[in-house]
Amino acid sequence: MTHASHPQLLQPLADDWLHFAAMECTQDPLYVAICRLVAQSPELLSLCLLTRPEQRRPNLLLAAIHERVLLGVSHALCDYFPSVGGQRAPDAGLATALHDFVAQQQEPISAHLRSSHTQTNEIGRCAVLWPVLAHIAQAADGAPLALLDVGSSAGLNLGVDAYTVSYQREGGEWLVGGEPCDDVAQVRCDLRGDGNPLDRLTDKGGAWRLTHRLGLDPLPVDVHDAQATRWLQACVWPCDTVRQHRLRLALDMARQRSWPVQQTGPDSVDAILAWLDSLPGDVQPVVLNSWVLCYFSDQDRAHHEQAMVDLVRERGAVWVSAEAPSLRPTDMALPATPPNDPKGATLWCQVSHPAGEVRQRALAWSHPHGAWLQWLEQAM
Ligand SMILES: C[S@@+](CC[C@H](N)C(=O)[O-])C[C@H]1O[C@@H](n2cnc3c(N)ncnc32)[C@H](O)[C@@H]1O
Repeated sequence: MTHASHPQLLQPLADDWLHFAAMECTQDPLYVAICRLVAQSPELLSLCLLTRPEQRRPNLLLAAIHERVLLGVSHALCDYFPSVGGQRAPDAGLATALHDFVAQQQEPISAHLRSSHTQTNEIGRCAVLWPVLAHIAQAADGAPLALLDVGSSAGLNLGVDAYTVSYQREGGEWLVGGEPCDDVAQVRCDLRGDGNPLDRLTDKGGAWRLTHRLGLDPLPVDVHDAQATRWLQACVWPCDTVRQHRLRLALDMARQRSWPVQQTGPDSVDAILAWLDSLPGDVQPVVLNSWVLCYFSDQDRAHHEQAMVDLVRERGAVWVSAEAPSLRPTDMALPATPPNDPKGATLWCQVSHPAGEVRQRALAWSHPHGAWLQWLEQAM
């Protein structure tokens, strides 16, 4: 099918690309420029028709192009991509470079559009996960922790105790986690509001230990598969060289440490139960989901929540859910939203079972990639 045969299909796509440029990728000048060029190009818009309807978003073609750039294809387009050291700002030459690159790489790009889906694994979330686990360990009297990450992608957040997290606030900096060095991914996080997640940690919390870890995912990313990890990197925007760099370091570390990730079906409850059964009695189990529940149907989400609450009550697990605020546990009141960046903020919630009753609490607001954190003082 050529673009001439379906012009009525292309206009809504062009609108999506313009919307993406205006609203979604404003911080990446290259992507803004590419989105505008795609919106004007019937050839490039037609390519998007190769995608499955649920994946028909600008991110997929952008990632498909980026993946080819990261592969090391030699082409003038790469000069525009900061992720491979390009320093050329979008200019009049971009349109020709883009069209020529896509024509040259049409086969692999089309293959991505037909069968890939955008995929991420964001270790910036460890800026919140680290103190959340520390407080859970403290509440468990210093017991070792076991972490199960549901929807773990490549399992990189299983390395929460290995990365260095640096919290900043005017007049102060606090470092936790792994010793800072060139090989260790570092997450920098601005503290907002009055709360400091490290304030009330005693030795028992500050020196928490993670002795068991497992990831579950229906589509896990194998950290030893170069193509799969390049795709993960391609889904990070090219201007975000800080995230690109820390993702590369986290993948290197995951290859060395081989944190286990199991493939599951869309319902993980049986796998969670099997994991709980496998643990020794002296560990505190923690089940995490971060930016996963949006992929569940309403029915599956309700089932997951009920199963988590039951496991909290009956098996002493702690459930940590870091999702869009609309996906918080059903009975939890919404805390006051943070003054800045409310759009896209993550709400961190905890369900636990202290003193014989199920307790739901909002722990923190954060930037979805952990760039800032607002600890809710009443949390712990
Ligand atoms: C946006 S990524 C988040 C990955 C990771 N939790 C993080 O915070 O970086 C969403 C992940 O959820 C996984 N996922 C989608 N549907 C799922 C389901 N029914 N059960 C478990 N994981 C699922 C996807 O495969 C993907 O790895």
